[in-house]
Amino acid sequence: MRTRVAVVGASGKTGRAAADALLARGAHVVPTGRAEWADLAGALAGCTAVYVVAPNLHPDEPSFVASVLDAARAAGVGRVVHHSVASPYVPDMPHHVGKAVAEDLVRRSGLSWTLLQPCAYVQNMVPALRMPEPVLDVAYDPAARFGLVDLADVGAAAATVLLEDGHHGATYELGGPSLVTVDDVAATASTVLGVPVPVRRTTPAAWRAGADGLDPREADWLAAMFAYYDDHGLPTGPRPLASLLGRDAAPLLDTLARELTQESSAPR
Ligand SMILES: NC(=O)c1ccc[n+]([C@@H]2O[C@H](COP(=O)([O-])OP(=O)(O)OC[C@H]3O[C@@H](n4cnc5c(N)ncnc54)[C@H](OP(=O)(O)O)[C@@H]3O)[C@@H](O)[C@H]2O)c1
Repeated sequence: MRTRVAVVGASGKTGRAAADALLARGAHVVPTGRAEWADLAGALAGCTAVYVVAPNLHPDEPSFVASVLDAARAAGVGRVVHHSVASPYVPDMPHHVGKAVAEDLVRRSGLSWTLLQPCAYVQNMVPALRMPEPVLDVAYDPAARFGLVDLADVGAAAATVLLEDGHHGATYELGGPSLVTVDDVAATASTVLGVPVPVRRTTPAAWRAGADGLDPREADWLAAMFAYYDDHGLPTGPRPLASLLGRDAAPLLDTLARELTQESSAPR
């Protein structure tokens, strides 16, 4: 019988990447979202592992994760993998702190647990790069350094720790193979696309003025993230991800070439 693995948040871009990698390894994926929330334990029944992906900028990620942990215990799911973030304990970024608190709940859950701490995804910039006139607008220093990571590699790493033994009690930071900047992303995309890709730096005030569709709390949290990125970027090391993949993580050029030149690739 195929191993059943639940993916909480399976319809989001992260959940889809994990589900794709699990399916490629022959697992049976049980996707869950809002529709399954009322009886999550029922949805998780028969699964050997659950991947917990909280919605982006959730107002109370610890409560969200606690509910999944309760459901996992009630359903007899033995293994939990929490999708956290690189540098979770950053007091200046409230959504990172939510993940730090959620990590503590996972470590004390009594379940077999693993924590994944990915850096920002290369794919975050792909929609802007797929526009007819690509341009990258950022509200922080475009020379700030990040361990930008290919979401497909994050999905593959998640499948490894969900399906294989030997990862109980492990916390893995998932960074790309080198530190890169938004300027690097623009230059690399320009090479792939054969057109100039300008970078426009927006001031926090101008970004805020243009973010009128956003919930005020979400706008505050994003503004805090941009301020942190401006000062520090989000550097990560490459080795844990390479170890999980059994190869180096995808370089920026390979990820952008795949995302920007294959018409069949679904938007992430
Ligand atoms: N983007 C990055 O670079 C990055 C890097 C590191 C970590 N992360 C983290 O990755 C996580 C996922 O981000 P994402 O952009 O992939 O996710 P997303 O698109 O926001 O995920 C949405 C998913 O959450 C479900 N959902 C939304 N609200 C819910 C609710 N109230 N109750 C239950 N389920 C709910 C949705 O289910 P439905 O099917 O019902 O809509 C959907 O499956 C976030 O926590 C983010 O902080 C992101």
